[in-house]
Amino acid sequence: MTARSPAAGGSAAGTLAARILVDGTAVAAPRSATLTAVLVAAGRWTLRAHPLTGEPRGPLCGMGVCLECEVTVDGQPGTRACLTRITDGMRVQTTGPGLAS
Ligand code: FES
Repeated sequence: MTARSPAAGGSAAGTLAARILVDGTAVAAPRSATLTAVLVAAGRWTLRAHPLTGEPRGPLCGMGVCLECEVTVDGQPGTRACLTRITDGMRVQTTGPGLAS
């Protein structure tokens, strides 16, 4: 995790914390974390539905290979959450049964 010291021109609290919106719900997160880590820590294991079967899908490999963690980030569908770093104000949409679309 990267942190800038207040002496270097940053606020320790401001550089470590970010607030993102997940399906319209605010979630606090460390800025250097991956989106998958933040979603799983928030209890969101199901991120999308299989397009043919509707089966719930979630992160599997954690390294950008399986595509099971695809979500929409800031309007960009098909974003792999495991390869995406948190940025303040990020808007995330998950899709799937019982999830917001
Ligand atoms: S968890 Fe496999 S691509 Fe993200």
